[in-house]
Order: sequence, then C-alpha cells, then structure tokens
Amino acid sequence: MSMQVKLEQLQALRGKVQSGGGDKRIAKQHETGKKTARERIDYIFDPNTFKELEVFAGDPNKNPGEGVVTGYGLVNGRKVYIYAQDFTVIGGSLGKIHAQKICKVLDLAMRTGAPVIGLNDSGGARIQEGVDALNGYGEIFFRNTVASGVIPQLSVIMGPCAGGAVYSPALMDFIFMVDGTSQMFITGPQVIKAVTGEEVSMEQLGGALTHNQISGVAHFMGKSEEHCLDMVKELLSYLPSNNQEYAPCYEANEPAVNREELLNIVPVQPNMPYDVKKVITAVVDGGDFLEVLPLYAKNAVIGFARVNGQSVGVIANQPDYLAGCLDINASDKISRFVRFCDAFNVPLVTFMDVPGFLPGTAQEFGGIIRHGAKMLYAYSEATVPKITVILRKAYGGAYLAMCSSSLRADMVYAWPTAEIAVMGPEGAVNIINRREIADAADPTEERNRLVQEYRDNFANPYVASARGFVDDVIDPRDTRARIIDALGILNSKRENRPSKKHGNLPV
Ligand code: HXC
Repeated sequence: MSMQVKLEQLQALRGKVQSGGGDKRIAKQHETGKKTARERIDYIFDPNTFKELEVFAGDPNKNPGEGVVTGYGLVNGRKVYIYAQDFTVIGGSLGKIHAQKICKVLDLAMRTGAPVIGLNDSGGARIQEGVDALNGYGEIFFRNTVASGVIPQLSVIMGPCAGGAVYSPALMDFIFMVDGTSQMFITGPQVIKAVTGEEVSMEQLGGALTHNQISGVAHFMGKSEEHCLDMVKELLSYLPSNNQEYAPCYEANEPAVNREELLNIVPVQPNMPYDVKKVITAVVDGGDFLEVLPLYAKNAVIGFARVNGQSVGVIANQPDYLAGCLDINASDKISRFVRFCDAFNVPLVTFMDVPGFLPGTAQEFGGIIRHGAKMLYAYSEATVPKITVILRKAYGGAYLAMCSSSLRADMVYAWPTAEIAVMGPEGAVNIINRREIADAADPTEERNRLVQEYRDNFANPYVASARGFVDDVIDPRDTRARIIDALGILNSKRENRPSKKHGNLPV
C-alpha cells in the first residue's frame, strides 16, 4: 500500500471521527438550539490553535471519539485544556474510554499548570458499560479533587446532565449553564415521580434558572451558548493559569463614573437601602465587574474586577436585599469565593455594610452557626492581600465575619458614615437601657434620646479607629486611590502558617 493510500485512509478515518454521530444526530442537536462539541471548541479557542488528543481512541467506526472530544489550545493567547462531550455519540454518555480521555486532559493540565474547561452534554454513565463507567467517574472525581486549588477548573453545562455527569462539575470551581437548553440533576423527573409521586419538569427541576437562583449550584447563566462561552473567556482573563502564578495584569483604566458620585451612593441614614454594586463599579477599572452568582443570595455580592489593572476578588453586602444581612446562603456564597481567590493568589477587597446575621428559627435550625463559621474560617485562612472598606454598618459577629482586622485584614478603611459596634443602636438600648426606658415619663422620647446618645458614642468609625481596628477614616472619593495604594504595598505579602495536612472547615 503506497503512502498516498495510507494518507487517504487516515484522512477518511479522521473525517469519520470528526463527523461524530452523523448528519442526522447533528441536525437534531442543532434543532434543539445546541452546537456540536467541535463547534463549541471552535468558538472558544483562538483560531487554529486547538489540537485534539486521543483522536482515534476506542472504535472510531462505531462510536467516533467515544462521545467526547479532548485537547488543548489558546484562549486569548493563554494555554487551556478542554474536553467537550459529544451528545451525538451515544448521548455523550460516559464509558471507560470516554473517561480515560477526560482523565488524560486533567492529568496534562495538572502537569503543565493550565486551566481546564469541561463542556458537559451527557446522559451520564453509559449504561451498557456498567461498573467500568462508574469507575470512570470515580477516576475523574479523584482528579478534580486533587486539581482543586492547583489549576482553575471551569465547567459549562450545555445539555442534559444526569446522574454522575453532575458531580464532576460540582467538584470544579465554577459552573456555567445555558438558559433553556441545559439541565443538571441527580435523578430525573421520571425517577422522582416513581419514588415520591412528585411531578416536575426537567427545566423546573434542574434548568439554568433553578440552579443559578434557587440551589446556588451554578454560578453563571448565559442567554445562549455563545454568551456562556464568552463569560468563560472573560472569567479566565481574571485568573492565573495555576496556583503558582498571578493573574495577568492589564492596562489600567479609570472607572466609568466620576469619583464625586461616591458621595451620593451610600445614604447617611443607616436604614436607607442602596445598591452596593454602584460603589463597586465606581471604584474598579472601567466599571467592569464580573459578578459571580448574581441571582443567588442577593444579600451578598461577589465577583471579579480589576483595580489598576490587577485582578481582585470583590465581596460586599447588598443593603438593597434583606438589608444586607448575612444568612446561610450568603455565608456559603462568600466563603467559597474567598477560598477560591486565596487558592489562586487573587487579593480580596471587601466592602462592608452589614447589620448582622439574619435572625430567625429558619436560620438557626438550618445551621447558621456552622455556615456563618465558614466565613470566619475562610477569611482567617486566606493569606492573600486583604483590604476592607467599611461603608456604613459594621455590627457584631457580621462585622468580624466580613474581614475585620482581627481576621487579619491587612488594611481597614472606614468611610465617615461607618458605624462599628456590637449591635445597632436600637437593639443595644433595648437591652442595656430597658429599665430606664420603662421607668421614663415618656418612654418613646427617652428611647430616642438613648438611641441618639448610643449613636454619638459608639456608632461611628472613631471608637474602632482609636483601638487600631481601622487604619484610616477616608473621604469616599479617595477609595479607589487608597485601594490601589494598598494593593501596591501588599504585593509582596508573604504569610506563613503552621504546616498541617489540612484544616477542618465547618462544612
Ligand atoms: C447509554 C444513553 C444514555 C446513557 C442517553 N443515551 N443516555 N446511552 N447510557 N446513560 C443514548 C440514547 O439511548 C440515545 O441513543 C442517545 O443517547 C440520545 O438520547 P435520547 O434519549 O434520544 O435524547 P433526549 O431525548 O434528548 O434525552 C436525553 C436524556 C435521556 C434526558 C439525557 O437520554 C436520559 O434520560 N438518559 C439517561 C439519563 C440517566 O438516567 N443517567 C444516569 C445514568 S446512571 P440513540 O441510539 O437512540 O441515539 C449514572 C450514575 C453515575 O450516571 C453515578 C456516579 C456517581
């Protein structure tokens, strides 16, 4: 056989692999509003940079690619690994070789210190392959765990993901979902109906909105596949390639709004709501803020931004929602984000305006003690530069939990509107002045007088400043300049803790 013939055979086999499950199944994929695995890969990588791995694995004639396309390429010039499940081949289900291909990508990504993106579109364990399929999942879960905190792992859900197909994404750092065409669930509607009698649609059970808004399993929701993949690229721009590196620095640009605006966003009256995102966008480069989990636990705001070109993780209370109180979901949301940023050398900037932890039996029975403790743990554990700006309320345990100086914030700044105290004036006088109020000729007037007295004496930034818990009380207009300065002085921060196997986060 001549070389020419051999090359033609190779070309034919390659064509077979590249056509996945065939025209009919590809057409069905398109009809349901989904791209194929290869179209998704083409969209995400810089042109002509994708290189496929294990091209002819398995039986290319029977199951081309074994239901997954794997490889590496460049995203905005930086190396990234990918696996994209191919729903046109046995529903993207995961068999032994499919799992091996994913494991190879994870191993290479670890060895070379580069992020990995998983594009998931799969019916779960390939039923015909039995325990081999289960073992394949186990091998992936193990690698996801070892890679956690070493390389960024991003998961995009782009179709139905059932059974084992959801746990690898859950072990990764961020989950993106496409609205309307992606679902995640452990057991589907039919099983639920059979076991509990409950009737629920696939979309209601595990659609993008459900997981972005109710369960908090997914962190981003895209309007389309393109929108989702654009967000993946944007997120990568804020991250280092691995835990030994820093995120890339970009050219700095000024926020979109004039710094004078910072005088008008936060009302001086402590009970007036406002949107803390206006403070964030008035401080960060270009006003660009990639919010993480924007629809879940809206009383807390987390996300990535740049200050003077440098990536930062921003955490804030949101007075527009539940008065910015911390609750179970907000605590989980913040703690996981803080730990991610710390693992990947992204400094933390915290904007505090918090009246306390949300009171109530639902919170107590749900274990707010355990969940709130995660925040104390995560901030205490974090050794990246930590800068805290107290905008207004900073009360009690929530003050400590939002990266106070005692949890080793490196720099704490307060606006003149800050009120740092054990609790709010109303709550405090109700407890410490109960008898005087009851005995007064006019209890309401006496109560108001005592509230004002408490506010004057305790609810200001100067009591905490006097004790060294606040570095400076600043003009709000100087916030960006002070953060830039602090990031500069802290860029050589090194903090070593006692060596241990690992701590015991109150999960
Ligand atoms: C083998 C599968 C499969 C699977 C789908 N297919 N899922 N083959 N194993 N798990 C095949 C179908 O037979 C079909 O083949 C093709 O993929 C497309 O599937 P359709 O059903 O036609 O597509 P659609 O109507 O879009 O429905 C998609 C779906 C459904 C919702 C994902 O296929 C489904 O419910 N699949 C099973 C989901 C599931 O229960 N998985 C859990 C497995 S157990 P043809 O040849 O007709 O095109 C598990 C446990 C692991 O994952 C635990 C680890 C911790």
